[in-house]
Amino acid sequence: MKRNPIFVRTQWRLAGWYALAIGLLLSLCGFGLYQAVLHTQRYILRQKLESLAGTLHDTIEPVLEQPGKLNSQVTMMLPGLCFPGEVCQTLANSIENASGRHIAGVFQQQGYYVRFVDRANQVIATIGQQPIFSGSLVASEYWQQLSGVKDDSNFYQISMPLRTRSNIPWGYVQVGRSLQEWDAYLYLLRLLLLLGVPFAIFLVTGASWWLAGLAMRPIDLSYRQMQQFTSDAAHELRTPLTVLYSALEETKLAEELPEIHQNLDIMERQIGRLSQLVKDLLLICRLEQRPSLQLNPCNLSDVLTDLVEELEGMSVNASVTLKLDLRTPAPTVILGDSAQLYRMVSNLITNAIHYTPVGGTVLAILDRTPDEALIHIQDTGIGIPSSEQNRIFDRFYRVQSDRARTTGGSGLGLAIAQAIAQTHQGRIIVQSELTKGSVFTVRLPLIYTQ
Ligand SMILES: Nc1ncnc2c1ncn2[C@@H]1O[C@H](COP(=O)(O)OP(=O)(O)O)[C@@H](O)[C@H]1O
Ligand SMILES: [Mg+2]
Repeated sequence: MKRNPIFVRTQWRLAGWYALAIGLLLSLCGFGLYQAVLHTQRYILRQKLESLAGTLHDTIEPVLEQPGKLNSQVTMMLPGLCFPGEVCQTLANSIENASGRHIAGVFQQQGYYVRFVDRANQVIATIGQQPIFSGSLVASEYWQQLSGVKDDSNFYQISMPLRTRSNIPWGYVQVGRSLQEWDAYLYLLRLLLLLGVPFAIFLVTGASWWLAGLAMRPIDLSYRQMQQFTSDAAHELRTPLTVLYSALEETKLAEELPEIHQNLDIMERQIGRLSQLVKDLLLICRLEQRPSLQLNPCNLSDVLTDLVEELEGMSVNASVTLKLDLRTPAPTVILGDSAQLYRMVSNLITNAIHYTPVGGTVLAILDRTPDEALIHIQDTGIGIPSSEQNRIFDRFYRVQSDRARTTGGSGLGLAIAQAIAQTHQGRIIVQSELTKGSVFTVRLPLIYTQ
């Protein structure tokens, strides 16, 4: 079935907005996650560098004598110390030969280096593999991020000022670490987010398009029903209007009084039909707005007895026997709107009479279960094919419309009856066999019993 372009457009628009909103949220989350990882990494690194530099600082400072000079005491304490111009041992070898393992051991991990620089930023001694930096170093800066000349690697470094025993500024101890490992991890995370977020947005767009379709379905359905209803109502109104129009034309041309009367009769009948149709339409609209009912105790035995009596004439005219069978010993009372309940049962009985051939029987039965009142309208009529049974409650729906035409029905009777049952928290069900007859059962909850 071709869908209305408005709904297709709305579905795409909804999906688009939804995807945009989720996309923004996902991107924000991704950005937040990246920042959180970056900050945690930097925080851990700072902690580590600060504690290493602090240990070195606190160990060395008490033995420093001359600014810019490291004495033999320091050399003993720090295995692997390498002075400019010297061939340096590897860190592992120097630690093995040294006594100050407790301090040097901390640099066993890959990527760390230590530098002692004087106040003019001249290197006095180093420990570990020394990177070559592309930028200039500022010794007095506490934290510094530096770029190496090789492999675009970055370094993070702390500079702590040292003072001699006599409290003269000595220079700085700098501890740094390569960020290569951490940067590789961050690169992977960036890659994952850059590919993952668009892929997730793509999936979300698909899912939101599908969800928007689901949300549009009931709206689409009710739009179709409204369209169908409007076209059916217009169609129903057109027939009596056409008849009225031609009767009017004929009256204008008529010369004889009986002919005029005959046309006026036709016009009266059609106006009656039109006003009934309009009344029915208004009633259906009111019922569908779920009005707050004026609820009063209604005795269903009275409703059925009155209606059987009232419709006796119609059944006699149709040569159909109309009988009443009250199977409840006590009066069956429910809370309801009596005018509407009369209308509901009357629609069912008139249908049963209309659709039962001459000589048939219509039986109105009142029964009950412990919590429901049951009204059965049973006939020996033409029956309803099973394929049509769930459609007969639709507005304007008729099984073979020509059949109903002869009865003058507009196809609203059962829709009204069902709507009334529903406003009383009940429902109508049908059982029918073609050519054998039908039973319409109204089940109404016994809200109030006596
Ligand atoms: N008791 C019945 N026996 C057979 N067919 C019925 C009976 N009641 C209703 N129907 C079918 O259901 C259709 C819808 O009924 P209704 O809504 O009352 O409209 P209408 O009577 O105006 O045609 C009828 O056109 C008729 O074909
Ligand atoms: Mg009817």
